[in-house]
Amino acid sequence: MLLAGFGFILSRTSFLGALSLSFLPPSTLLPTKSASHRSPPIFDDPFSPSAARFRSEITSIIQQDASVAGPLIRLAFHDAATLERDLTTTTGGPNGSIRYEMERRENRAVGRPFKIVESLWSSNNDYDDNGNSFSTQFSLADAIALSGAAAVEATGGPHIGIRMGRKDVDTADAEVSRVVVQKSTPRSRVDRTLPSAALDSDGLRLFFGRLGLSEQEFVALCGSHGLGRHVSLLGMSKPCLKNLTRTCLEEAPVLLPFVTSSVDTFDNSYFSALLQWNSNQVELGEVAFIPTDVALVVDRGLRVHVERFARDQAMYFTSFARAYQKLVDSTAVTVKRY
Ligand SMILES: *[C@@H]1O[C@H](CO)[C@@H](O)[C@H](O)[C@H]1NC(C)=O
Ligand SMILES: *[C@@H]1O[C@H](CO)[C@@H](O)[C@H](O)[C@H]1NC(C)=O
Repeated sequence: MLLAGFGFILSRTSFLGALSLSFLPPSTLLPTKSASHRSPPIFDDPFSPSAARFRSEITSIIQQDASVAGPLIRLAFHDAATLERDLTTTTGGPNGSIRYEMERRENRAVGRPFKIVESLWSSNNDYDDNGNSFSTQFSLADAIALSGAAAVEATGGPHIGIRMGRKDVDTADAEVSRVVVQKSTPRSRVDRTLPSAALDSDGLRLFFGRLGLSEQEFVALCGSHGLGRHVSLLGMSKPCLKNLTRTCLEEAPVLLPFVTSSVDTFDNSYFSALLQWNSNQVELGEVAFIPTDVALVVDRGLRVHVERFARDQAMYFTSFARAYQKLVDSTAVTVKRY
């Protein structure tokens, strides 16, 4: 989420210009009548080996440092959630534009996961033993969406297959929404392309409704906050304590778990933590919820989903997977999921 005004809560997994690549024409990605007669489908399928290999590389990176998992999901969210669609026009969405949006206040701390994805994607890693890099096979936007899915799975969540074939763009997405919407309360106002951390439950409904997500789905998406960490001042150098610059925040030596003790595990503990918070069962300082978290338990309609996910992790996983697919697949073109 956009974290304006919540200065130290920076690296949580909020939520969440590139070379233009030459893809095979989209028609070759779609199943054709004759497809079943052709032998090895791999020739029609440029993404199969490269996407699987990319996921496994990201998984190894997370195995070395689990604290990057949350930020990778957040990166995917921030590239994708800018989508605005009406009958005639689609703007925003997962198109790699995040690379031009790093200076935005809502993208603080997105630099770290971005560097990981971008360098793996563009490096000459010879992924197929023919000297190819991932960037000759798929877009940066695809790489970002794959990384988020890999992060969920690598930390114990479901396998989420995603479509491929997103196109990268060479400018930033709009920062301000084309259409401003608001319900009765001022905190429900949605006027930017990424959600404000101060949105109330009506604001969340408006924002995620725009992305085509149901209440159940966006509540599920918030569950990835269980992987979140926030920057603490512990161990910071004197110059940083005097002038807390972006670099200081990004390179902070100590990150504290945001919500739960199982901060490196993708599970449903976020929902139990919210319910405990709501019934005053947590000590001060034990959790660090932001207003959008709290909105999920104070709103009766949304709390139903929080309660269900707290009870039923399998259902949470299914809902999260569907929500993630809706979020990142909005500009993807393949029928097949990878
Ligand atoms: C992708 O990014 C561009 C910025 O170049 C933006 O204007 C465009 O609307 C975005 N989305 C789509 C679906 O093209
Ligand atoms: C803090 O650091 C930034 C970036 O280096 C610099 O532009 C700014 O002037 C500094 N502020 C103070 C009060 O030293």
